[in-house]
Amino acid sequence: MIEKGNLISEGKAKSLYETQNQNELLMVYRDDTSAFDGKKKEALKGKGEINNKFNAHIMQYLDKNGIRTHHIENVTDTESLVHRLDMLPVECVVRNIATGSICRRLGVEQGLKFENPLFEFFLKDDDLGDPLINDNHIIAFNWGTEEEIAIMKEKTLIINKLLCKIFSDVGLILVDYKVEFGRKDGQIILGDEFTPDGCRIWDKETGESLDKDRFRKDLGDVVESYQIVAHKLGISI
Ligand code: C5P
Repeated sequence: MIEKGNLISEGKAKSLYETQNQNELLMVYRDDTSAFDGKKKEALKGKGEINNKFNAHIMQYLDKNGIRTHHIENVTDTESLVHRLDMLPVECVVRNIATGSICRRLGVEQGLKFENPLFEFFLKDDDLGDPLINDNHIIAFNWGTEEEIAIMKEKTLIINKLLCKIFSDVGLILVDYKVEFGRKDGQIILGDEFTPDGCRIWDKETGESLDKDRFRKDLGDVVESYQIVAHKLGISI
């Protein structure tokens, strides 16, 4: 029986609690949904449960394919047990197709397909609006080492290959996504989550968005779209 201890941190969609084991934490997926650095917020019924199950499926698949993750097991419909990591304060984004912030930032045409996946680092800092940073900032401000930077890039790109395949096999395109890493016992391990809240997924046939862009752009049926993706991937909700 896992005991829910002190609240360690509360993000926009998840809360993290201590457990009776100091090396393991309880991650609670809430229905809360936010966009534009928290300026738009809503609770979407059922999203916490879908994201918890979606994340477990992806993390287990990655673990089986050589990417170590912090995921241990799902404990309830909305809670999972994870290894405690010392998180690096950076977000690793990979883009296969241009959309979102890169189009605004660089005036790139929406829908442009990258020949090679494009990797970007962002600083995890809500007050600053998660600015784009590069390797030199990470070194200069001691957010990580050269070696950790190389490992994060390598792992993020392996994750891209692994996930593009499973999405493509069921008629979906993984457009872009964000992942975060942490340290444990001298290793760099995948932390946080992989859910439709943190990636863009398009239907191959129709080009329809089936991810958080539905919420950002008021397209409706947000949870229903997450459910469609989960169903296609064989995740039972
Ligand atoms: O907004 P942008 O186009 O840079 O987002 C790229 C990808 O990273 C999207 O899939 C988005 O959902 C994800 N992301 C995220 N959390 C952030 C920033 C981006 O999950 N803070």
